Amino acid sequence: MSIIRLNTLKVFCTILAVMCISACEPTIDRQTLVKNAQSATPSDPHLAEIYNRSCRACHATQESTAPLVGDKHTWQPRLDKGMNVLLDSVINGYAGMPPFGMCMDCNAQEFEQLIDFMAKGSS
Ligand code: HEC
Repeated sequence: MSIIRLNTLKVFCTILAVMCISACEPTIDRQTLVKNAQSATPSDPHLAEIYNRSCRACHATQESTAPLVGDKHTWQPRLDKGMNVLLDSVINGYAGMPPFGMCMDCNAQEFEQLIDFMAKGSS
C-alpha cells in the first residue's frame, strides 16, 4: 500500500472516530431537562414576572412540545435561524405557540431577553 493511500486511510479512520465519539455523547434524559427547566428563572425580577405568567406554562412542562428552557441541544437550530426570525415567531405565533407567547403586553426587547434566557437556561 502506498504512503498516500495509508494517509488517506488514517484520515478516514480519524474522522470516523470523531463522528462516533460525538454520536455517543450522553444525552440528558427528558425528565432531567424538565426538572432543569422548572428550576430556571430569569434573574431580572421584571423578566421573571413576565416569564412566570406566560412562557413558563409551555416551555418548562413535561407535556409540551415547546423547546424546554435551557435545553441547548433543541435551542441551537432555533438560534441558528437568527433572532429576528425567532422574534417574528413569537409575535405572530408559531406552530403550537399562540401569538405573543401569551404575553400581550411584552415588547420586542423583552421577547429578545426572554428568548436569550430560555435558550441558555439562565440570565
Ligand atoms: C401555549 C404554549 C406556549 C407559550 C405560552 C409560549 N410558547 Fe414558545 N413555543 C411553543 C411551542 C409549542 C413551540 C414549538 C413550536 C414548534 O416548533 O413546533 C414554541 C417555540 C418557541 C420559539 C421558537 C420559534 C422558532 O421559530 O423556532 C421561541 C423563540 C419561543 N417559543 C418563545 C416564547 C416566548 C418568549 C414565550 C413567552 C413570552 C413563549 N414562547 C410562550 C409554545 C408556547
